[in-house]
Amino acid sequence: MDTDLTKTQELELLSSLESRAESPLKFGYIGDGYDNWVRIAEKSRENHDLEYEEDMLKKESLPFIFREINENIKTVNIIDFGCGDGVPMFPIFDYLERKGISGINYIPVDISQAMLDGAINNIKGRFPSVNMMPILFDFEKGEIIEKILQISRNENTHNYFFLLGNTIGNFDNTEKVLSNLKMSMFSDDYLIVGNQISNLINTSKIIKYYQEKEKFDFFVRILKNYGMECYLEEYVVKWNENKKQIEGFLVLDDDKEITIAGRTLRFEKNEEILLFISKKYVEESIVEMLNKAGFRIDLFTTNKKKNNCIISISPSRYKS
Ligand SMILES: C[S@@+](CC[C@H](N)C(=O)[O-])C[C@H]1O[C@@H](n2cnc3c(N)ncnc32)[C@H](O)[C@@H]1O
Repeated sequence: MDTDLTKTQELELLSSLESRAESPLKFGYIGDGYDNWVRIAEKSRENHDLEYEEDMLKKESLPFIFREINENIKTVNIIDFGCGDGVPMFPIFDYLERKGISGINYIPVDISQAMLDGAINNIKGRFPSVNMMPILFDFEKGEIIEKILQISRNENTHNYFFLLGNTIGNFDNTEKVLSNLKMSMFSDDYLIVGNQISNLINTSKIIKYYQEKEKFDFFVRILKNYGMECYLEEYVVKWNENKKQIEGFLVLDDDKEITIAGRTLRFEKNEEILLFISKKYVEESIVEMLNKAGFRIDLFTTNKKKNNCIISISPSRYKS
């Protein structure tokens, strides 16, 4: 079966399902997950939903984010952690080109080759003079991204790392992922995080957002690709008050099986498979989490509706 996962990723999926009944969301972005995800993102942009709000706020923040860029800077590296289709980067290249920066390197980093290809094509079409250096990498692996270190230490070069589009809330261990990303950064580099700020009083509204059919299709795609039947009626979205996160489950309406890497796993009726988590932050909790992961805050800004934030942070030796 052609599912686009490597052998190692298949084993990771198998072990995650077998030992924890969890289907890692990250695998959903691989292969034809790109098209599923782009449909969701485009709808969100058209409906002026979260992605749109983040985009507006980002545009307003760019003069401050890039305030250290002057005529002595010859190269700007834009490292895009979890690049998606690259569209959220358009305002950034627009801004840098208007500033007269001629040496712009775009370094998308993603677990999905399809995302890397999509981002590169979209950006190439609009900004042909930007140099492309894609990196296929899983943030959950605690390794230094050597390629970034090699190009980021050049003379008269500034490095801006981005983690946009609510990506930060989807990891089981957010602090660990941030520490991994930090390994490829120095103290004069900036990481710009774009995330939703949630109203935790009204969690039913947040739940509704995840209940839509196209989101279900995206979350179960990988299980379906390996032969498990999944129905919308089995999909349950819950708020976990303790962990302050949305959780999506498939609650099996029958005994089922799935075959991965030649091994068949059996699940019983009523068993729950965790499809995704999405941690929800208020202003204080996101700052606290970033400080704990060893970053200091350079800029924190929210939009008028107070439902989105752009945060620029730098690695710090001193954890709070
Ligand atoms: C929610 S999308 C955000 C995309 C884009 N930054 C935006 O703002 O629209 C998350 C992105 O992170 C990537 N991603 C998710 N988990 C990852 C992991 N463990 N390692 C590397 N990339 C990952 C996905 O492939 C996807 O491109």
